[in-house]
Amino acid sequence: MNLDIIILAAGSGKRMRSSLPKVLHKLGGLPLLGHVLHAAKHLQPTSITVVVSPEQRDVADYLLQDFTDVHIALQDTPKGTAHAAHCALQVLDAAHATASTTLILFGDTPLIRTETLRQLLACSDDLAILAMTPDDAAAYGRLIVDPQHKATAIVEAVDATPAQLQISLCNAGMMKIASPLLQQLLPQIQPSRRTQEYYLTDLVQLAHANHHICGVVTGEAQELLGINTRAELAKAESVIQQRWRTQAMQGGATLMDPPSVFLSYDTQIGQDVMIYPHVFIGPGVKIHDGVTIRPYCMLTACEIHAGVTLGPCAHIRPGTVVETGARIGNFVEVKNSLIGPGSHVDHLSYIGDSDIGEKAQIGAGTITCNYNGFSKSRTLIGRQAFVGSHTTLIAPVRIGDDAMIAAGSVITHDVGTGDLAFARARQNVQTEGAAKLRRKLKAQTAGHQLEPSTHLEDSPSPHQD
Ligand code: UD1
Ligand code: CA
Repeated sequence: MNLDIIILAAGSGKRMRSSLPKVLHKLGGLPLLGHVLHAAKHLQPTSITVVVSPEQRDVADYLLQDFTDVHIALQDTPKGTAHAAHCALQVLDAAHATASTTLILFGDTPLIRTETLRQLLACSDDLAILAMTPDDAAAYGRLIVDPQHKATAIVEAVDATPAQLQISLCNAGMMKIASPLLQQLLPQIQPSRRTQEYYLTDLVQLAHANHHICGVVTGEAQELLGINTRAELAKAESVIQQRWRTQAMQGGATLMDPPSVFLSYDTQIGQDVMIYPHVFIGPGVKIHDGVTIRPYCMLTACEIHAGVTLGPCAHIRPGTVVETGARIGNFVEVKNSLIGPGSHVDHLSYIGDSDIGEKAQIGAGTITCNYNGFSKSRTLIGRQAFVGSHTTLIAPVRIGDDAMIAAGSVITHDVGTGDLAFARARQNVQTEGAAKLRRKLKAQTAGHQLEPSTHLEDSPSPHQD
């Protein structure tokens, strides 16, 4: 498409009260700016230019890392949206001949869908504004329209008269404009007398005065929500989650209590996946068909193969692959590990930096000690190995196929294929020893009361082996 897209993201974002730049706050695990960029990229434009503040180095770093094909324009001081657009034009001019149409988007309006942008671009007028009628118009610019429903001006809320504030049709901030018209009118914008900022919205009035028609394309307020505060961020999160939950259900997943399931921008969920209430799925998760996720699970950057059961209360951390038909039970944490097909880690375990083969049984309370305070080591457990309950595996260590480990073992050395390892103190039972011990302890206590300095030698202690 012969289209230049400019995304404004250099505002100070004061209303967020944050040390993090506003456009890097996340929705569903992706920065606001990332959402806008995804919607923009789907239009396959000639170019995308993002205007950032040199003070917000993190924003430029994010672009350089994740969106290498965008131009970055710097706006030294945030003098308003028109000034920001002007900074983008300077970069575009220097880079190449501009495209015939320019689309201006805001980095703080992340719920915008590509389809809606297409509708805006389809408007045949030289300039077209995306508008909406939100329940609370408070801070949005108000659209002044003529009887043909063409815009003649936008008045910012701070500058509006009480009568203008009654107008319910608001500017969503995004606009499409013929590139030559943008280049002609942008330098003519004067700073607001009230705020000293250069308003992009003044283009409408200028275009109208120059006999250009400004179309109005109306979208849903929910989709066009601009994020200036934490409350608006939370509102946008709920909108986007609802969108993704619906998509997951349309794709054949059951969400028993949709509002308590949180997904991420890149979550992939197969068919016949059953998700119980209170499940949080962070970025980078792929869930194959027929997986069951019981209540209170958290998953991040992991792959869960077909027919796996997780939880309740399982924590599946980055780098984990749970193979087909495996079971991860309650209060189990798995990190950077491969759990082989059909293997079970059913209760109260920590499995970190491990590779577990097929159909292995990992008993309750098994812990892999993968970290010595400086570096991480791996634990390898073979196929059909049986690890007894409350085993501590001190990595690096390798347990062979079909090996068995006695419950309560502390394993510090490799266990060979088919071997049986005991690594715990042998049990010592003294017949009627409990009664004897009680008698001695009683005598000792009585002795202490009579003569505090009395010391009984060889008194057995239940703490000694
Ligand atoms: C803007 C619109 C308002 C509209 C609302 C919709 C203007 C003057 N006002 O108001 O009519 O109803 O969006 O959400 O356009 N930015 C820069 N440099 C700057 C100032 C802002 O890059 O100097 C960027 C911000 O990072 C942000 C976007 O432009 O992504 C919009 O700026 P913001 O200050 O949030 O404008 P609003 O007051 O919300
Ligand atoms: Ca805004």
